[in-house]
Amino acid sequence: MEKVRLGIIGIGGMGTNHARSLLEGKVPDIELTAVADVRPERLEFAAKELSKDLKCYDDGKKLIDSGEVDAVLIATPHYFHPEFVEYALTHGVHALSEKPAGVYTKQVKEMNEVAAKSDKVFAIMFNQRTNCVYRKLHEMIQSGELGQLKRMNWIITDWYRTQSYYDAAGWKATWAGEGGGVLINQCPHQLDLLQWLCGMPTKVRAFCHNAKWHDIEVEDDVTAYLEFENGATGVFVTTTGDAPGTNRLELTFEMGKIVCENDKLFYDKLSESVLTHCKTEKEGFKKPDFTRIEIETDGQNEQHIGVFKAFANKILGKGELIAEGAEGINGLTLSNAMYLSSWLDKTVEIPFDEDLYLAELDKRRATSKLKEDKGIVFDTTGTY
Ligand SMILES: NC(=O)c1ccc[n+]([C@@H]2O[C@H](COP(=O)([O-])OP(=O)(O)OC[C@H]3O[C@@H](n4cnc5c(N)ncnc54)[C@H](O)[C@@H]3O)[C@@H](O)[C@H]2O)c1
Repeated sequence: MEKVRLGIIGIGGMGTNHARSLLEGKVPDIELTAVADVRPERLEFAAKELSKDLKCYDDGKKLIDSGEVDAVLIATPHYFHPEFVEYALTHGVHALSEKPAGVYTKQVKEMNEVAAKSDKVFAIMFNQRTNCVYRKLHEMIQSGELGQLKRMNWIITDWYRTQSYYDAAGWKATWAGEGGGVLINQCPHQLDLLQWLCGMPTKVRAFCHNAKWHDIEVEDDVTAYLEFENGATGVFVTTTGDAPGTNRLELTFEMGKIVCENDKLFYDKLSESVLTHCKTEKEGFKKPDFTRIEIETDGQNEQHIGVFKAFANKILGKGELIAEGAEGINGLTLSNAMYLSSWLDKTVEIPFDEDLYLAELDKRRATSKLKEDKGIVFDTTGTY
């Protein structure tokens, strides 16, 4: 195989954005050959506006069975991601799933079990892992130079969305169509990075406020307290209601503090471990000395293109993935735990009872109302 022939399942906002990038040749090892969507108007759009050479299918499984593709990118609403991943991997086709991996961990665990038995490549679109600041931070943490994690604070409140965003797609911001709000739609990136950088928390206490800033069923404002195995604690704050909002990740380690904001990394590097200093310093108020350093990175931030390139490289035997598909369950475990904590009004330990989670989600799905689909597709450009 010289080039990977790729099909996109779900040619809405994100699918279209990916299609345009691929048709513009931004990923030389991938050729977009086919698209699938359940809405005929999206297929008409693809044939007319994207490329007349695209094969169009009204069902993603028909696309997978067509023989026209070696791999698929799944950009449907989240509930369908596991179903198409499983179908692709068991029918000889590589799969790249959009985030999140699915809506509830039970569904994603089953998908991962199927994937584990397949020899096809399974990846997930965690494009923010390509950002040089997060890659550099990951490298520093892995090296051990920062010592143990003490505290993590992430204020990620720059996911502003208007009411018209929520009104446009019938499935979005409904329990039945999407399975949640800001945690399941916007935050899978940060929840993945959180676990990638800090490891998995063991306890979560969250407060998810439904419809605080928008006329929707689901949460648009969340504050969560986290505990890690080593005793480190964290706070994660998110909303789609604040403008201009903040994206500030502050990690406190034994050897100093890292602040990641505005795509820059600052390190207040201590002259010695704060834990050792605490035990040995004779003066009661004296802090350890520190130097503020702006950490240099390689400046590379390829986002979705980087994930596609790595996916193609893996298939062609030339490199490794940005994120293995099976890793999608970690961030999803965090969002599920946050919902469960909020719904039960108590602290949730990880791993939590997945059947209970599904039963609680089903209660909400039972009374959920999909909105009228206005057929509006927002051009999903930029960094997500
Ligand atoms: N990685 C990122 O940066 C990023 C950004 C935006 C969206 N996304 C993800 O992409 C996915 C799609 O989001 P969107 O904003 O493009 O939504 P959208 O509503 O604009 O597009 C979804 C498309 O899927 C189609 N569809 C629905 N059910 C289908 C099915 N069973 N089979 C085939 N097609 C089906 C719809 O008709 C629609 O055209 C979501 O999971 C979202 O989280 C990822």
